[in-house]
Amino acid sequence: MRFKDKIIFITGAAGGIGHDACLSFAKEGASIAVTDIDIGMAKKVSDEIKKSGGQAEPYQLDVTNIFDTQSIMEKVKDRFGGIDVAFCNAGIREIKSALELDVKDWKKVIDVNVNGVFFTAQTFAKMCVKQKKPGNIVITASTLGISAANSRCAYTTSKHATVGLTKQLAIDLADHNIRVNAVGPGVIKTPLTERYFQDEQVAERIKNIHAMKRVGNPSEVSNAVMFLASDEASFCTGSILVVDGGWTAGKVM
Ligand SMILES: NC(=O)c1ccc[n+]([C@@H]2O[C@H](COP(=O)([O-])OP(=O)(O)OC[C@H]3O[C@@H](n4cnc5c(N)ncnc54)[C@H](O)[C@@H]3O)[C@@H](O)[C@H]2O)c1
Repeated sequence: MRFKDKIIFITGAAGGIGHDACLSFAKEGASIAVTDIDIGMAKKVSDEIKKSGGQAEPYQLDVTNIFDTQSIMEKVKDRFGGIDVAFCNAGIREIKSALELDVKDWKKVIDVNVNGVFFTAQTFAKMCVKQKKPGNIVITASTLGISAANSRCAYTTSKHATVGLTKQLAIDLADHNIRVNAVGPGVIKTPLTERYFQDEQVAERIKNIHAMKRVGNPSEVSNAVMFLASDEASFCTGSILVVDGGWTAGKVM
């Protein structure tokens, strides 16, 4: 029970990776603030945790709204007595190249994937500093925060920004005993990527990007997130832990 009596705040908690992280942290004894823009799905995840004997509460949160982020974090603090870990996970993707992308889509991806992560992390960090408590932030970056791929212009840019933000926050918050790390998943089978698997040829191509010739499961990401959020990672801050089956290790020739 690595997270007994710990409170975990998760954004994008109703999606593939978020959902798995909610269940995994709950299994390790944590209480979960299940936040998502989709409150119906957040309620389902929260009910699932409660049914299996865990503690959870659903909240509707659009991470692009800093005022809502601040008020929901206050509500979570009142409900559970504090927050120990913020998992900044909500993200969206647009499959467009630099020449195709319009300003609206560019701004939307940057707003959710960059502003949303910053608003969650900053609000949480301010709360920790005010309460003179240590804290732990884990950010979901991506292999596309390390290298680029065709037709992923806004997404790649946004995920590179989360890698930079992870390092910057680690430096700015170290004196306050707040660790900040990121995971960099390769392709993980979730609703975000389900389109890839509807076409056999595309699915095969996607698998072969990874040296291990397969895609990942959400639980393989959650395991890395829990490691970074746990005391086992007590000397890790500013690190990007790739969970990518060898994608970023090099090209497969
Ligand atoms: N699935 C992959 O292959 C993969 C790979 C690398 C990184 N990631 C990253 O992992 C994170 C989770 O992705 P996933 O695969 O679980 O996707 P998903 O689409 O299954 O889940 C994303 C969740 O975020 C929520 N969301 C969307 N906009 C939001 C907003 N403005 N505010 C709050 N919540 C919002 C959605 O409702 C959804 O529940 C994302 O940051 C994504 O970029 C995913």
